[in-house]
Amino acid sequence: MPETLDLNALPSQEDSVKAVREWNAGLPQQPLAYVHSFGCQLNVADGESLCGVLQEMGYGFTQDTAQASLILYHTCAVRENAEDRVFGTLGSIKRLKQENPALILCVTGCMTAQPQIAKKIRESYRHVDIVLGTSAVSRLAQMLYAHMHGMRYAQDIVTTTDIPEGIVPVRESRFKASVPIMFGCNNFCTYCIVPYVRGRERSRLPERIIDEVRGLVANGYKEIMLLGQNVNSYGKDLENGMDFPTLLRELDKIEGEFWIRFMSSHPKDATPEMMDALLECKHLAKHLHLPVQCGSDAVLERMNRRYTVAQYLEKVDYIRSRDAEFSLTTDLIVGFPDESAEDFEGTLAVMRQVRYDNVYSFIYSKRTGTKAAVMPDATTDAEKSERMQRLLALQREISVENNRRFLGRTIRVLADGQSRKRPEMLTGRSAENMLVEFAGAPELIGTFVDVEITETHNGLITGHL
Ligand code: SAM
Ligand code: SF4
Ligand code: F3S
Repeated sequence: MPETLDLNALPSQEDSVKAVREWNAGLPQQPLAYVHSFGCQLNVADGESLCGVLQEMGYGFTQDTAQASLILYHTCAVRENAEDRVFGTLGSIKRLKQENPALILCVTGCMTAQPQIAKKIRESYRHVDIVLGTSAVSRLAQMLYAHMHGMRYAQDIVTTTDIPEGIVPVRESRFKASVPIMFGCNNFCTYCIVPYVRGRERSRLPERIIDEVRGLVANGYKEIMLLGQNVNSYGKDLENGMDFPTLLRELDKIEGEFWIRFMSSHPKDATPEMMDALLECKHLAKHLHLPVQCGSDAVLERMNRRYTVAQYLEKVDYIRSRDAEFSLTTDLIVGFPDESAEDFEGTLAVMRQVRYDNVYSFIYSKRTGTKAAVMPDATTDAEKSERMQRLLALQREISVENNRRFLGRTIRVLADGQSRKRPEMLTGRSAENMLVEFAGAPELIGTFVDVEITETHNGLITGHL
């Protein structure tokens, strides 16, 4: 049986979809796929598109790996622990493959886009059948075709310049939808693996995005999340003069009751025009995720972030001067190579000054192939953990104080589910992306409700309709 793959010898994606669908139609019962996406929202959105391709090929879906004829893990490489989780999962799934040799096991995404990882899977996880990188959406059908025609191991991890279009994603939610507006990243922050695995920035055509959002709103979707690694550089590669603020204003013209959110924005590209659009457009939820990463100019320079703390704070001032309570959240990295105690104090100082509603904080993780991976680092793991604890404690304090501003106010919330701990309560998100809990009937899930806030805690506010 062939071990390697000659892509040129395979039928096109369209013909492969057709061939696999015919193959599946000949089975005694509909095959089921189990798909799990790790990582960021963009990866989860990709996972929904992968499900779209699988559905086109005749697969149904299951949440139970034991029922599945095909298991697909769509992976993340952003930190080492994300990769460790995947290796752990692949080890635990080996038994299923031994019990059912016809089971097809696929691993795709950012982690497998790295040649050393694909090699490790090839050598140490030989029960895996198909390995694809970040071009999985456009390549999965061909790989399945190859597998079904006797190829024991199909791999293609080449980073493509594809913009997958025309695939109808199988969306998890019936009222919240992710819409990728661009793929890839050109920024090369020195700690980050994303530009290596996702390729260069490429923007979808505005008319495709606008049509997709219009269709979603017409189908009752209440929250549209525009996604990209760096949404505010949207359009730089297009020749039609389109940019992110203009796209936002175009989307805002769509009629209906819905919110638009977006992430992530790079501070260097957060222009006054973008912030004006955010403040002025009626559909845009009043919240901005603006990852600062660190509060020291020396570290920001070594990170290649291309802004200073003062420039970042100017952008915060711009938006807060127009709306003093404007909700901001951020990403922070603790323990970047050679981060000094003073550098870290700078991060705490930015947190105290900006008073974020929430921060997503990560201990620096060395990523092979990035520039930071070879930078000297004298800071110990114990120091990094201690800094992380201090950062979390400070943010808890800030969140508790910030949340008090909602007390006694009535705020608009998109109800999105039942509380896990108290099933009589519903949960939802406010425009500021605050988690809100309130008593209500399950029929309200997927609708906007007005909640009067009566109690606030760290990370959660509660009230009644
Ligand atoms: N493109 C987005 C931006 O620039 O804000 C972020 C995308 S990245 C997937 C999400 C977050 O992961 C980053 O903002 C950063 O805080 C964190 N991150 C990325 N690489 C990391 C690393 N090597 N170690 C720890 N955290 C990392
Ligand atoms: Fe990574 Fe920086 Fe690109 Fe964000 S902007 S994906 S942190 S390289
Ligand atoms: Fe991870 Fe890739 Fe997203 S590395 S965070 S899944 S872009």
